[in-house]
Amino acid sequence: MPQSKIAGIGMYVPEHIVTNNDLKKYMETSDEWIEERTGIKERRYAHRTNETTTTMAVEAATIAIERAGITPQDIDFIIFATLSPDYYFPGCGVLVQRAMKMKEIGALDIRNQCSGFVYALSVADQFIKTGMYKNILVVGSEKHSFGLDFTTRGRNVSVIFGDGAGAVVLQPTTQEGQGILNTHLHSDGESAEILAMYNPGTHANHWTTNKVADFDEAEIGQMFMSKDMIDHDQNFPFMDGPAVFKKAIVKFPEVIMEALQASGFTHADLNLLIPHQANLRIAQFVQQKLQLRNDQVYNNIQQYGNTTAASIPIALCEAWQMGKIKEGDLVCLAAFGSGFTWASALIRW
Ligand code: COA
Repeated sequence: MPQSKIAGIGMYVPEHIVTNNDLKKYMETSDEWIEERTGIKERRYAHRTNETTTTMAVEAATIAIERAGITPQDIDFIIFATLSPDYYFPGCGVLVQRAMKMKEIGALDIRNQCSGFVYALSVADQFIKTGMYKNILVVGSEKHSFGLDFTTRGRNVSVIFGDGAGAVVLQPTTQEGQGILNTHLHSDGESAEILAMYNPGTHANHWTTNKVADFDEAEIGQMFMSKDMIDHDQNFPFMDGPAVFKKAIVKFPEVIMEALQASGFTHADLNLLIPHQANLRIAQFVQQKLQLRNDQVYNNIQQYGNTTAASIPIALCEAWQMGKIKEGDLVCLAAFGSGFTWASALIRW
């Protein structure tokens, strides 16, 4: 059975840099607060009208496809991870297919937020292993800047997130021990509402009675997104930061160890860990817990903020471009986020 390898990788971040001090124009915050709590110094925001989650994905995908030595017409499946799609539906996968003039191939969107890219990679890996596809485009892309509450009310969430995209092309390899060695996927929906965006959605208070305003019969037709929801700030993401932090620092190390042990490795064998860039403090905690040296972990949240599904492919691409990943290196990707969902992928580069 073939294994899958990353044959090409690309990233794209918008030109517009937004520093912590820039955010002070909109909300009460400070460079010190943001950097001390999250490690973030700046992030990128997409152009309001000329850049979308899909256009950024296309930029990253173009580079990944070129580096894989193929053309968009060679891609035989697309898997697109995002929580900020251009449309509520259809998904961004079909928009990439159209924009890149690909053949009438399958396109799948994955909605697993921060662990979306690792979930996507795992799905792609299965298709390669079964021999169903030979050139799969896996993308993570986010345009958060369009949907955050930039007033003081929403500052605990809005200062964290940034925009960008990353992409890889997955191909089969028959080289023994090369490529994706294992993937592990997990979820626990018990705390689904503590890091979530409730609307637009069909819940109509079913799950979130404590958090969503009550509606009368007259409003029933507008449940999907009513004026009342907007008046109650229900159109912005909600996050209980401390609760997310507590769970993340347990699940990150667990899922990394699961990956290493499944293939008979220890933390000492790891050349590079690319943790989802949720918060530098979380990554540092994980590094300490696993006793990893600084050169065994790559973080770039300082420059880009948390780009959710795009954070791992952006960090992976940047690390590779900087020469921090060489052929034969053992690389672990690990993510944790809304759902909760968490996941890892172990790769022999
Ligand atoms: N600027 C200044 N003050 C802020 C602020 C901001 N951007 N955001 C929140 N605060 C204030 C709060 O209002 C609160 O003030 P109060 O004490 O007067 O009520 C105070 O800072 C502490 O708030 P709290 O939410 O308890 O802060 P924290 O120390 O837990 O840090 C996070 C907040 C979000 C940085 C932190 O909880 C975290 O990183 N959690 C993990 C989140 C994460 O990784 N999310 C991505 C998931 S993939």
